[in-house]
Amino acid sequence: NRDAQFVVVANRLPVDRVVADDGSVDWRTSPGGLVTALEPVMRKQGGAWIGWHGAPDEELDPFDHDGYQIVPIPLSQQEFEEYYEGFSNATLWPLYHDTVAFPEFHREWWDAYVEVNRRFAERTAEVAAEGATVWIQDYQLQLVPQLLREMRPDLKIGFFLHIPFPPIEIFLQLPWREQIIQGLLGADLVGFQVPGAASNFRRLVRKRTRLKLDRDRVLLPGHACNVKAYPISIDTEGFIEMAQDPDVVAESDALLEELGHPKVVLLGVDRLDYTKGLRQRVRAIGELFEEGRLDPADVVFMQIATPSRERVDEYRRLRDDIDQLVGRINSEVGGIGRPPIVYRHASFPRTTMAAMYRIADVMVVTPLADGMNLVAKEYVACHPNTSGALVLSEFAGAAQELRQAYLVNPYDLNGLKESIMRAVTDPRIVRQRRMRALKKQVLANTIDSWADSFLNDLRELTS
Ligand code: G6P
Repeated sequence: NRDAQFVVVANRLPVDRVVADDGSVDWRTSPGGLVTALEPVMRKQGGAWIGWHGAPDEELDPFDHDGYQIVPIPLSQQEFEEYYEGFSNATLWPLYHDTVAFPEFHREWWDAYVEVNRRFAERTAEVAAEGATVWIQDYQLQLVPQLLREMRPDLKIGFFLHIPFPPIEIFLQLPWREQIIQGLLGADLVGFQVPGAASNFRRLVRKRTRLKLDRDRVLLPGHACNVKAYPISIDTEGFIEMAQDPDVVAESDALLEELGHPKVVLLGVDRLDYTKGLRQRVRAIGELFEEGRLDPADVVFMQIATPSRERVDEYRRLRDDIDQLVGRINSEVGGIGRPPIVYRHASFPRTTMAAMYRIADVMVVTPLADGMNLVAKEYVACHPNTSGALVLSEFAGAAQELRQAYLVNPYDLNGLKESIMRAVTDPRIVRQRRMRALKKQVLANTIDSWADSFLNDLRELTS
């Protein structure tokens, strides 16, 4: 059934199949920025989305969803452990995020990665129509471009990396570096979040291959691979509308009530991931409470941490650390009422997130390394016009566009504390000016403009 003219290939499907202990089955929106960004693209374009449905050891048939086709790829329990938890998330993830945790290298994990990438490529070759556009996503599937080109040279093949691409000195630690480079070069167009990542990759190609480069293009026998930055964004209009929905407004009022109408709400929203700078953020805000610079009677820090990759060691350690840190601060600071830090380790519906963004006077986004960080953009879109402030790590891709945020180096605790205080205390007029500039930026670069510029480039290059 080679009939899809447009195919997205990603490790995750937009929906996750959740099997409860009692055996009942439910579908839920998958976690993470990739799905948030691509789901509206797919609804608009139609076609097929090939990916894993989140439950190991289960085979499912393709089905229709929101006007496009979902094609589930099965993973065995062992593949889940070796390809997904192992090579993708305990080797590549820390390696590509500046080794903020140590990457582990295991040969069996690599073998599983190759095997699963081959499965994705084979399934894509079965689904894509003659001459179709195929858009492969993210670090879990870096071998698919080359594998797919070998199977189906008629396809237009794009690849987009949602996370950072490291400097060559770090990348070269990877024992299978040559295979990854060749895998990516199988695409007609490889997109990165920021220009620095694209130039890291071009420099790598220059140093490690004999291929010629003609500005942004790597010349290979039979095709050229273009390498460029395409900063991703969100469905800005969609988020704005959602945040203005009367139910969401009511929910945000109820939330404020529940928090006891604090004067200032600080908010953090992240997957519980060690790249997000949560330890630094909680420590900085904890010290501000301890020193009395933030008064727990007036100020609340609400932190939502979405469960993620929970069985991987580094994630377990992080979870324990944050539990302890928050527990200690809450027991030492404040009265007997609401604690100064309201911490939830849970995922919430998007509408609830929008309600939280609405009431957050200061959004605190402090990753140590991050491809883009869409939460920062979601906040800017959802927060009502009149107020709000964004504290943003300079190590998030988003910092290259959102210049009017309070930019911070999250490793510099004193600097981080000062910036948070400025975001809380700056005159309203200053904060408004900054927010207006941020809103303009998030309205100008939306998920539609991102997808259009990537796909137009891909189609032009291959026509
Ligand atoms: C990041 C990655 C995505 C990934 C998401 C959620 O946004 O770039 O590829 O899907 O995190 O992580 P998970 O491991 O749950 O898919």
